[in-house]
Amino acid sequence: MDKLIIEGGAALNGEITISGAKNAALPILCAALLTKESLHLSGVPKLKDVATTIKLLQHMGAEASREADQVTLDANNIHTLEAPYEMVKTMRASILVLGPLLARYGHVRVSLPGGCAIGSRPVDLHIKGLQAMGAEIHIEQGYIEASAKHLPNARLQGARYYMDLVTVTGTENLMMAAALADGTTILENAAKEPEVVDLAEMLIKMGANITGAGTDVMTIKGVKALNGTTHHVVCDRIEAGTYMVAAAMTGGTVKLNNARADLLDAVVEKLREAGAEITNDATTITVKSNGKLKAVNIRTAPHPAFPTDMQAQFMAMNVVAEGVSKVTETIFENRFMHVQEMQRLGADISIDGNTALVKGVEYLDGATVMATDLRASASLVLAGLVARGETVIERIYHLDRGYEYLEEKLTALGAKVRRAN
Ligand code: UD1
Repeated sequence: MDKLIIEGGAALNGEITISGAKNAALPILCAALLTKESLHLSGVPKLKDVATTIKLLQHMGAEASREADQVTLDANNIHTLEAPYEMVKTMRASILVLGPLLARYGHVRVSLPGGCAIGSRPVDLHIKGLQAMGAEIHIEQGYIEASAKHLPNARLQGARYYMDLVTVTGTENLMMAAALADGTTILENAAKEPEVVDLAEMLIKMGANITGAGTDVMTIKGVKALNGTTHHVVCDRIEAGTYMVAAAMTGGTVKLNNARADLLDAVVEKLREAGAEITNDATTITVKSNGKLKAVNIRTAPHPAFPTDMQAQFMAMNVVAEGVSKVTETIFENRFMHVQEMQRLGADISIDGNTALVKGVEYLDGATVMATDLRASASLVLAGLVARGETVIERIYHLDRGYEYLEEKLTALGAKVRRAN
C-alpha cells in the first residue's frame, strides 16, 4: 500500500491550479442516468471516487469515455438497475444513483452503504423524501428496493418535503428524482452547498425546471424527459481550502488558480483571523503568511458556515498556532479520528464530546501516522509539512479519493514529498 513521505520545514511558494470539485463531479456523473442523450463534462478530476462512479455507471450499462479532464457519458442502454454492495461499500456517494434511476425507470435496487469511518451516516432522509414522492421502498437483504411502478405511468409524484437535517447528497438525490417526476416538488431545508448549485445548473441545462438552488427552499417542476448537455464542473473549494491552510502554516506565498473565494467565505475569514493575508479576484486566491499564526475557534455547520470537510485541516493549523482553541464538530459524530494521530506527532489536544480543545505547541516531531478518512489524511499531510524531520503517512489511498495530483502540486510549491510503497 502506498505511503507518503514528507520532510517537514519547507515554506510553500508558487502557483498551482485547483481541480474540479469531487463532490460536484460525483452527483453530476450520476445525473447522466436521467437521460438517454450524452453528457459532455469537463473539469472532472482524476480521483479514485470518480473512477468508482464511472465503473458503477458502466456496470449499469452506460457508455463512458475519458480524455484528460473530459468525460463523456451515454446512458441510453441501461440494463442493470442495481448498485451492488461491492461497489457501494467502497464509496457512499454511490447512493446518488437511487433518485435518477427510480425517476427514469420506476425501479432501482441500491445496497445500503453501511458503516463509515466518520460516523453512522444514515440515508433515511433520501428514503423518506422518495416515499413522500410516492415511491414504495423496502429494505431487503441489505438493499434498498424502490419502486414507482404502482404510480400513474410509473412516475414519481411531485411533493412537498421538509428535511429535518441538512443533507447534501440527500438534497441532490431528491432534486434529480423530482426533475423527472409528475408535478411540482418543494424541498425545504435544502442543502445550499456550491456543489448542489452546480448540479442544479447542469440539470437546468438538461431541461429541468429548478428554482431556488443555493437557498433553503428549492422548487422543482417535473418534466417528462431531459436532454444531454455540456458542463464544466465547479472548482474544488475543499482542495483550495486545504492548500490555503498549507500556505498559511508553512509561511510563504501561494497563488491558487481556478479557485473561488466567494465559495470559501468562512474559511477565508478564519485564516485572516489566524493572521494570514488573503487576496483574490474572481478565479484566483493568493495566501501570504509568515507562518506565525494565532489559534482560532472553529464550529462546523452546513454551508455557508464553516465546512466539516475543512475541520481536520484547521485542527492541524491550530495544533502549531499560538494559543488555545476550540474545534467543534456538529455535522458528523466520530470525526476526530485525526486527533490520536496528531498526538503521536506531539500535538496537545483533548476531546470532550464533539469539541476538541487544542493547545498550540512550539513544534511537532515527524512520525509514522495513518488516517481512516480523506480529510483526516489531508490534515496529517499538513502536520507533516511543518513537523521536524520525516513524517510517513500510511494508507494514502484515502488521499487518492479526493486530492488530484497531490504530490505533484505540493512539490511544485516546494514541499519535500514523495510516494513510496
Ligand atoms: C456530503 C459530502 C461530504 C461532506 C458532507 C457534509 C459528497 C459526496 N459528500 O456528504 O464530503 O462532508 O456532505 O458537508 O458530497 N444524515 C442523516 N440522514 C440522511 C442523510 C444524512 O441523518 O438521510 C446526517 C448525516 O449522518 C450527517 C448529516 O446528516 O450527520 C449531514 O450529512 P450529509 O450532508 O448527508 O453528508 P453526505 O451528503 O453524505
